[in-house]
Amino acid sequence: MTETANILIIDDDETILDSCSQVLKREGHIVKGAKDGEKGLELFKKEFFHIVLLDLKLPGLDGMEVLSVIKEESPETPVIIITGFASIDSAVESIKRGAFDYLAKPFNPEELRIITKKALESRKIFFENIYLRTELEKKIEFNMVVGKSKVMEKVLDIVTRVSPTESTVLITGESGTGKELIAREIHNHSLRKYAPFVVVDCGALVETLFESELFGHVKGSFTGAFETKHGRFEVANGGTIFLDEISNISLNIQANLLRVIQEREITRVGSTKPIKVDVRILAATNENLADLVRKGKFREDLFYRLSVVPIHLPLLKERKEDIPLLVDHFLHKYNKRSNKKINKVSQNIKKALMKYDWPGNIRELENTIERAVVLSKSDEIELEDLVYHGIRSGSSLLDPTDGRYKTLDEIEKEYIKTVLQAQFGNKSKTAKILGIDRKTLLAKVKKYNIQ
Ligand SMILES: Nc1ncnc2c1ncn2[C@@H]1O[C@H](COP(=O)(O)OP(=O)(O)OP(=O)(O)O)[C@@H](O)[C@H]1O
Ligand SMILES: [Mg+2]
Repeated sequence: MTETANILIIDDDETILDSCSQVLKREGHIVKGAKDGEKGLELFKKEFFHIVLLDLKLPGLDGMEVLSVIKEESPETPVIIITGFASIDSAVESIKRGAFDYLAKPFNPEELRIITKKALESRKIFFENIYLRTELEKKIEFNMVVGKSKVMEKVLDIVTRVSPTESTVLITGESGTGKELIAREIHNHSLRKYAPFVVVDCGALVETLFESELFGHVKGSFTGAFETKHGRFEVANGGTIFLDEISNISLNIQANLLRVIQEREITRVGSTKPIKVDVRILAATNENLADLVRKGKFREDLFYRLSVVPIHLPLLKERKEDIPLLVDHFLHKYNKRSNKKINKVSQNIKKALMKYDWPGNIRELENTIERAVVLSKSDEIELEDLVYHGIRSGSSLLDPTDGRYKTLDEIEKEYIKTVLQAQFGNKSKTAKILGIDRKTLLAKVKKYNIQ
């Protein structure tokens, strides 16, 4: 079933006007006719039409001029040109000027039905594209890289310059400093922005599975390979692949990866046929790759290929002046998400947030604000919404409370609790931050009876 559309036909030939009208009305459309360009435009400006059928040879105002007025007023309206056999050239010219397509006379009802259907479809796609683009822009707004500090300015300057190129970029920085965000930023500002951005976590799978995840496999290449599978490189074709935690890949896969970069082709596991891929590679790690190269755990040639442009992201505590900006940014983001209007953050709180060291970096700050927005009962963030996060105003762990200094055990307990909460109970991350191994942490958690 076709949807009802409003259609305007501008043609001085009465028989064409009538017959087209009849065909389209039978399709369920609402049709209006005009016998010359002036009347046609008058109608067009007064009423709403989904599509226009336009004769090129008209008395008075010429069809081509009518076309340019319509396209200027509403570029989304498809205009179908009706033309005599003798004037195919001008029909072609009209398409150059924005007409959707043309119908050469004489045409039969079926041709008319098909072309109007296509025109209506193209109108839909036009709006879908606008929708997708605005959705994308919105996403970009929320995923904006915030930061005015000197170090971030430098980072953003490199990002701006490297984005439109095809260079491989190696992004380094500790957990939560924004490596993935920067990778997305580079993709979103590249010529590949409307193509896929594919994230691969290089630490997530065992080697054999990982190889097929990256390059795909053919049916029967190993037990469990029931069907041919497209690897992430094929999925990312035309776009960007982001190899996260790149330090985790085995020497064997490092060799394969090097080949992809050099030859621009992949081979599925179990196949010998190379497949061309056009993919830009971005990689990230929170380890020191140069160190791994020295230890023989990472190929030197691959290291140089990956780090054509290196970008290092600073710790949040090294750019505390960005904290107030980030707080406002995350407030805006989580207000929108949770339909709240919390816009007051006292100076006191901002100070407390700037005093804290943020071992989990921006991710920790973001989680803190999200939590505070969700928990807040007023239009203001209260200190108590933050306090059990280890963030406190004024008083520090080291200040005397109730007139006495704390014991070392008390401080240790409090500090472990603080970091554990900031890491949302993640013991491995907490242990790493505290510089002890997991076992020791578990023992201490037990000793101090920390929940
Ligand atoms: N400069 C920034 N401005 C705004 N938001 C940021 C910024 N940097 C990071 N974020 C946000 O902080 C969170 C963590 O960032 P991201 O995931 O990019 O870090 P990461 O370095 O990849 O961390 P990990 O090593 O743990 O994977 C994300 O939600 C991201 O949007
Ligand atoms: Mg990450």
